[in-house]
Amino acid sequence: MVSRNLMGYIRESAESLVQTENDMSSNASPIASHADRRNWQSDGRPIPKIEDGLRYLIGGEIREWSGDQQDVKSCLFFDWNGGIVRPSLGPAPLLDESEALQALEAAQAAWDHGKGKWPTMTVAERIHAVEEFTARMKAVRETVVERMMWEIGKTQADSYKEFDRTVQYIEDSVQALKVLDRNNSGFSIENGFLAQVRRSPFGPTLCMGPYNYPLNETFTTLLPAILMGNPVISKLPRFGQLLNNPLLEAFRDSFPPGVVNIINGRGGTIIPPIIQSGGIELLAFIGSSKTADKLKQYHPQPHRFKCVLSLDAKNLAVVLPDADMKVAVPQIIAGALGFNGQRCTALKIIYVHKSRREELITLLGEAISKMKAGLPWAPGVQLTPVADIEAVNWFRSLIDEAEEMGAKVMNEGGGEFVENFMHPAIVFPVTKEMRLFTVEQFGPIIPIAEYEDVSEVMEYAVESEFGQQVSLFGNDPLVLGPMIDALVNQVSRVNLNTQCQRGPDSFPFTGRKASAEGTLSVADALKRFSIRTLVATDYSEQNRELVNEILKSRSSNFLRTDFMF
Ligand code: G3H
Repeated sequence: MVSRNLMGYIRESAESLVQTENDMSSNASPIASHADRRNWQSDGRPIPKIEDGLRYLIGGEIREWSGDQQDVKSCLFFDWNGGIVRPSLGPAPLLDESEALQALEAAQAAWDHGKGKWPTMTVAERIHAVEEFTARMKAVRETVVERMMWEIGKTQADSYKEFDRTVQYIEDSVQALKVLDRNNSGFSIENGFLAQVRRSPFGPTLCMGPYNYPLNETFTTLLPAILMGNPVISKLPRFGQLLNNPLLEAFRDSFPPGVVNIINGRGGTIIPPIIQSGGIELLAFIGSSKTADKLKQYHPQPHRFKCVLSLDAKNLAVVLPDADMKVAVPQIIAGALGFNGQRCTALKIIYVHKSRREELITLLGEAISKMKAGLPWAPGVQLTPVADIEAVNWFRSLIDEAEEMGAKVMNEGGGEFVENFMHPAIVFPVTKEMRLFTVEQFGPIIPIAEYEDVSEVMEYAVESEFGQQVSLFGNDPLVLGPMIDALVNQVSRVNLNTQCQRGPDSFPFTGRKASAEGTLSVADALKRFSIRTLVATDYSEQNRELVNEILKSRSSNFLRTDFMF
């Protein structure tokens, strides 16, 4: 039986795809070439034909790639004449090793052994450049959002949210840098020394964001890195690369050549040579721990290779005997199924007390049945096809294995799929032997395990390979207090009666065990991408005079006392 929601997506996608102009005689189809596709629309939205996708940015120059290419397919598909069609959006480059190394050379030239224009500029000048960039970025909001919907299937509301949150992140980072600079603009006198302590960049930095937040999580490392003076090579994510393309001019026109280099292609081809060269000082990577392990090993001097990593997670929700289901159910639904479960912070396993099991499963099932499936721009839509068109095979293998081991899909239509749209599945009881108990599904599956004694939940948290966040649903302070005390040493954020999440972005975002290395937040990121550096001298009259002269003559951009407003 095909569920209502599954039919919902198909019906909506079928009804929305129309050929609008009068060349019906042509044999064009929605998957035909760009030229033939000019008349196809979905809900009045022409299927994008993205013609700027072959561009990339190296050394302040926007280049057009004519080598190997990939055909970027939309993750959206349509029922057309009884068959499934999936539009291709346009070509994107598969850069080669030589091009990757040119990006490295450009970043190294901008660094110029720390003497480059950007790393020695005043903080005020860097902030000015970033503000110019932000103004230019705002101008391409609609194009970026449109591409985000077509490339990764994020709903329109969430795509706008991702864009606006990113702009806000940049603006907040600028404010945080001003505060940091104000605090560092004075001198200290300690034990006969006079010193000024500031923060300096590390050098060429490689940033790699994930496909689920292809704009936001590309920028939440790239922007703090450049704000602090590091030239950057940004490798765009596997999905969601075309949406970054309209920003190339803004990067080129706002920063000196080589400060921002944007490349794309197969990670396995272009990333190893960059790291193996030993020319990268800092890696900021958001993705899988498996990939992070490989990347670290490529560096010839691992001790020198600084890393900021945000990796896998298996965030746990605990439903205690006294949980308020009116709070817990919507939070679990949002936490587990926001962007179809494709969030690193998603709730990926639910532990429910035996006494509340049936109630929770029924209520979650009812809530899922009310969720609207459809195209990302349809009003009120919550469920869309997943970004990786192959991922449903992975989801199904996890569900099939759990079923073989005695679990059941508890909601109507759960786990049914067509192409890369899968109706969310509540799977119960999930037990130790099943992969769903431990692996990160990264999709619309809600695995539920039950417990009798809270010690079983604590054992799960201790044994888990991951340590990002947990959510506790309950109201007894005498139960919650000791759980908090134990869990804060297993994860880096305990959420009370609230889903797991990264925001607000001023909060520290990190994880224990295999989940992260380093902390990101507006203020933490600025520190992570810089190193405390000081100028110190004996507190003699001669040295005091010398420091005064340097300040008065404004001959140094580091040693200065300007107050940043
Ligand atoms: O994918 C991981 C994101 O950092 C999660 O952010 O909790 O705001 O969705 P979010």
